[in-house]
Amino acid sequence: MTLVLSDLKPFARGGNRLCFVHPQHTDRCIKVRRPDFTLEDLRRKKGFPKNLRPLSSFDDNLEEERVMTDIAERIGEEAFEVVSRCFGFEDTDMGRGLTSELVRDGDGRISRTLKQTIWDQGYDDALQAAVARFGARWSALGIPSRDLLVHNLLVQRDAGGRILRLVAIDGLGSASAIPEQWLSRGMQRQRAARKVDNLHERIQTLLAARARGEFPGTHGLLMHDGLPAPDTQAADRKEPS
Ligand SMILES: Nc1ncnc2c1ncn2[C@@H]1O[C@H](COP(=O)(O)OP(=O)(O)OP(=O)(O)O)[C@@H](O)[C@H]1O
Ligand SMILES: [Mg+2]
Repeated sequence: MTLVLSDLKPFARGGNRLCFVHPQHTDRCIKVRRPDFTLEDLRRKKGFPKNLRPLSSFDDNLEEERVMTDIAERIGEEAFEVVSRCFGFEDTDMGRGLTSELVRDGDGRISRTLKQTIWDQGYDDALQAAVARFGARWSALGIPSRDLLVHNLLVQRDAGGRILRLVAIDGLGSASAIPEQWLSRGMQRQRAARKVDNLHERIQTLLAARARGEFPGTHGLLMHDGLPAPDTQAADRKEPS
């Protein structure tokens, strides 16, 4: 069955994908390619020689599904403490969508990114401890990822506002040409630990920008909180344009 997304309002937009609350499962999200920035557009932007590669090699959804299957097989259940779970593809009227665990806080609202959390509230002891816990698990499990970016990590809280965990929702996969499976466990861990070191640097850069009062950009900001609006049936119904 083809899911209809085109008359729903996405809850977020990344550089490549639109994210919707799954119309049939409120605890899942479904991500489709942005219609205003197609795979062809992305390939064109890359320039020579990357633009010689097949279109499928630019598809974030395909890559993410492949990597999530690998993580589930190789690392197993523990990985999902720090990575959102993937449920595979579904057809939608906006192309094939990748479904995954929608990370929500205890009050039902969609969790906010580490970037927004730091921007709004700074980097207090509780958040620093949560980042440290996340980093330790990430390195110990040797999760394969590209750079860990502050808009690709979510801060999940309980109903009382206490931080439960940090979760990566994007940016998984190998950063280099050597397939992850070919590396020893020790090397996988070392690689993951380097990504964690870089994350700490990125957090410091963000804090410095915050101190200077720079505009953080709208990247990764939520467009709605995923709760049903009181006066309509669905929170994510698109406003008439
Ligand atoms: N599983 C999820 N649970 C809750 N929020 C999510 C989830 N996945 C994505 N989001 C929100 O949507 C935003 C965009 O999603 P995502 O990073 O997957 O898009 P993208 O286009 O691949 O991003 P990028 O610009 O990093 O390539 C995230 O920054 C986050 O705020
Ligand atoms: Mg992203």
